[in-house]
Amino acid sequence: MLSIGVDIGGTKIAAGVVDEDGEIIAATTRSTPATDPALLEAAVADAVAELRGEHAVGGIGVGAAGFIGADRRTVTFAANLAWRDHPLADELERLTGLPVVVENDANAAGWAEFRFGAAREARHMLMLTVGTGLGGAAVMEGVLLRGSAGFAGEVAHMTAVPDGQWCGCGLRGCLEQYTAGTALVRAAKRRAASGDPLLGPLVQAAGGDRRAIDGPLVTRLAQQGDPGARELIAEIGTWLGRGAATISALLDPDVIVVGGGVSAAGDLLLDPARQAYSASLTARAHRPLAPFVLAGMGNRAGIVGAADLAR
Ligand code: BGC
Ligand code: NA
Ligand code: ZN
Repeated sequence: MLSIGVDIGGTKIAAGVVDEDGEIIAATTRSTPATDPALLEAAVADAVAELRGEHAVGGIGVGAAGFIGADRRTVTFAANLAWRDHPLADELERLTGLPVVVENDANAAGWAEFRFGAAREARHMLMLTVGTGLGGAAVMEGVLLRGSAGFAGEVAHMTAVPDGQWCGCGLRGCLEQYTAGTALVRAAKRRAASGDPLLGPLVQAAGGDRRAIDGPLVTRLAQQGDPGARELIAEIGTWLGRGAATISALLDPDVIVVGGGVSAAGDLLLDPARQAYSASLTARAHRPLAPFVLAGMGNRAGIVGAADLAR
């Protein structure tokens, strides 16, 4: 059976028709109307209508960046979006006439990596998506962990620094505030504002306006070898490794898959993560160290995972 996977991102909605082998056989995108849930749903329905024109599909899976209820229908809460107890599946079923399943965005991507991507040989996988926010997905013994309310895997909001940076979830010191795109950009802007000479090339690349620095720019400069940008990415990587070590104390995964926009930095992100991981993992001399690997499915993971989970 074919199903449609929809990945609702901060800037873009990506949708595709996916077959049972995880192949995307048709795809389309819309830009995300950020502030109005009704407009966002209309855009999703429009993308679905386009895809259904050519393919018979049985249902829709939607990946969304937030706390998704255990019924997999409601966006209960989102740290970085306006959704509160929002009946996303009801609305999309009304607009499309197809059955809809809603998943956390990182769970959808992680499931795709487990089934078809970088962790397809694994039984116990931790996936961390380092994008605007920090997403998490844990598959243990082949089962995607959802928890009692549906909120398992919300690694973004584990406390990393007591009384640290304020987070969109209302708490302070959440891991997301130290290892995600928002943290990367905040650190870059702060250091640029303080006149740190190491950040000179980055400010220059932003057209001389430090407020124009964004995540992709830092990543690009890091890839080009700029020391300031590399240091910023490395700092994110260090926190990623520390966070992964804490999570591993609980879950003991056999592989850690890293995806999301910031993972385009590759080993510039992963090497510091590996180092911090092995330095902070409990019993590290007496256990195998889970390898950090890059997500294998790129930006297709959200679509493929959501579609597969809907099936
Ligand atoms: C949210 C998660 C989401 C992650 C990545 C976090 O801030 O709490 O639900 O998976 O960002 O988008
Ligand atoms: Na998750
Ligand atoms: Zn938080």
